Order: sequence, then structure tokens, then C-alpha cells
Amino acid sequence: MRVVSGIQPTGNLHLGNYLGAIRNWVRMQDEVGEGSGAQAAEAGSAQKAQCLFFLADLHAISQPHDPAQLRKGTLEMAAALVACGIDPARSILFNQAQVPQHAELQWLLNGTARMGWLNRMTQWKDKAGKNREGQSVALFAYPVLQAADVLLYQATHVPVGEDQKQHLELARDIAQKFNNDFAPKDAKGNDAPVFTLPEPIVPPAAARIMSLRDGSAKMSKSDPSDMSRVNLADDPDTVMKKVKKAKTDPEPLPGEEAGLVGRPEALNLVTIYAALSDRSVGEVLGEHGGAGFGAFKPALGELLVETLRPISRRFTQLLEDQEALGAILAQGAAEARGIAAPTLASAYAALGLVRA
Ligand code: TYM
Repeated sequence: MRVVSGIQPTGNLHLGNYLGAIRNWVRMQDEVGEGSGAQAAEAGSAQKAQCLFFLADLHAISQPHDPAQLRKGTLEMAAALVACGIDPARSILFNQAQVPQHAELQWLLNGTARMGWLNRMTQWKDKAGKNREGQSVALFAYPVLQAADVLLYQATHVPVGEDQKQHLELARDIAQKFNNDFAPKDAKGNDAPVFTLPEPIVPPAAARIMSLRDGSAKMSKSDPSDMSRVNLADDPDTVMKKVKKAKTDPEPLPGEEAGLVGRPEALNLVTIYAALSDRSVGEVLGEHGGAGFGAFKPALGELLVETLRPISRRFTQLLEDQEALGAILAQGAAEARGIAAPTLASAYAALGLVRA
């Protein structure tokens, strides 16, 4: 079992990233791989999943950006991930720019990916809007780099929020077509696939945390209003203020989930509460049904503040030692380059490209 996932180091880590993806990354560090099971555990041979988590800095240049900000954001995001519980002793943490094989494999996969497939990506359509002609080639080819990110490591599991599922399905299509078109034969004459088909792991709840200002838009770093998201580094007063000002409707909370239909803002706040307290939406409504937002919002604010307090304290401490953060990324990148090398070599060979 090999777990691979990434995050763009632009802007702040927010609650959507945390509940939709990062919390799952942290949990997957303790996951036991397939073929282990109870027997293997008894025999002492249970294998932990190998986890690789990276800062998608190469993706971040697909849109206008400030180089100084990207450099700063990369170290900050590394600190944020460690503060959330990504343990560099157990997981390989790095940034793409230090592992050139990502860009190399992307080029090889560009020969397999189809324009039509990329044209259908909702993220491309959303980000390009009406101005497709004015976008960078990198923004269009972005999902091919994302495919390279996971195929390079033979990832089996990719923990992501709902919005990245389509990109992962594309990665599977690219892998499948490459394997079909180019897989070499093994000694017995069977196809020897070059790439493993990765499985997206989307949390059943909290896969799509919405903006605090608009229940129909996802919480996002690119939203111009900072009031739309809770950042993991926000101080307690700011968190409380954002929750209290969150858009809601005038009705009290229903006693059952069905009562949240057509109330996206209410559903979002209850979903956040449920995810933070590791309970179902139904359980939260069982407790808070009938309450108005005047009572529910402070309860949610408290829960958020308590969850974020240790994370933001650790984040601030980690940022004080930039050298240590740089060393974590350099070490992770060295390990990642080692794991990537055989797959990249197989891809070159399968395509008939001659290397020394
Ligand atoms: P990014 O940087 O936008 O987001 C990082 C992760 O956070 C999840 N996420 C959310 N989950 C729930 N609710 C939300 N409002 C929310 N907003 C963000 C995202 O789904 C993601 O899992 N293209 C990717 C980065 C990437 C990647 C990869 C991911 C590059 N290569 C390979 C997986 C595998 C992105 O821009 O995520």
C-alpha cells in the first residue's frame, strides 16, 4: 500500500483542506497495508502503508504568481502539514521542484493524454472561465502533471477532497491507456503494466466543505474574502468572529438530516461540527436539533478553537526554524527521487526512448 497526495503551497491551509484531505493523510500514516492482517500482525510482519506527501509547487506556477510568495508559501505549507500531524520520520514530505522526475514523467504522459480529456476537466473550465485562449499551457496540462505525481510512485491510495476526484479518474485513464499501448511483455509473454491504477480516497463526510459566506461555493484559498474560510493559523478571536458572521438562514436546526435539504449553509456548519467531533450529522442534530444559530455558532466556534489551538501553536514554533524545515524537504526529496527512479526508467524504456 502506497499513499501519495499533494497540496498547492499557495495561500493558507484552511479548514476545507484539513477536513477534506490533510486529516486523512495524518490518519493514513497509521494504516496497515494489504496482505498484512491479523495473522501478519501477530507474526510481527504487519506493514505500515508507505506515505509520500508533497507541496505541489510546480502546479502553483500554472497561474499568475509571485516568486517570493511561492518560496515563502512552500516553507509555510511544510510547517502547516507537520503542525497538523504529518510526521517526517514516518512520511516522506517534499516539494515537487526538488524531484525533477515529476516534470519528466509529465512530458512522457503528454503523449498519452488526450486534448478532449483535458477539455472536460471542471477545474480547467472553472479556472479558465471565458478566457481559455489567455490561459497558460500549464493550466491546461495541469491534470497530466497531477497524474505523473501519483503514477511516478505506483500510488495505490490517493486521499483527496471531492474536487480532486475527477483529476484522479483522469490519472487512471492515462495509466490504463499507457499500459494498453506500451506495456512490455514479461518472461511468460504476459503484459507487464508500467503503472498501478491509483484509488482516490475521499472522506465520506467533509469531502466538500463550503464557503462560510456562500453555501453553494467550496471553501477555497482563492476566494477574495478571508471571511469565507477558517485558516488553520487564525487566532481564536478571528475564528469565533468568522463563525458568528457565517451566513445562515433564520430557522432553528432540524432534529433530522432530511430537514437540512435546501439549507446549504446550515448543512455546511453542521457538517463541520460533525467532522470535528468525529460524529455523524444525524448525531449532531440529535443533540442540537431545535437550537437556533445564536446558540449553535458559539458551540461550533469553541470546537474549532480547541481543534486549531495545538495546530497553530506548533505551526508558529516550526516557522521559527526555517533551516530545519528546509532539511525536512531536502531529505524527503532525496527519498522520493530514489522511489521514483525505477518507474521513470520503465516508462522511458516502454516508449522506446534510448538512455545511456
Ligand atoms: P489543493 O491545494 O487545492 O487542495 C489540497 C487538498 O484539499 C482538498 N480541498 C478540500 N476538501 C474539502 N473541502 C474543500 N473546500 C476543499 N478545498 C480543498 C483538495 O481536494 C485536496 O485534496 N491539484 C491539487 C494538488 C495536487 C494533488 C496531486 C493532489 C497536485 N498533485 C496529486 C493529489 C494527488 C490541488 O490543487 O489541491
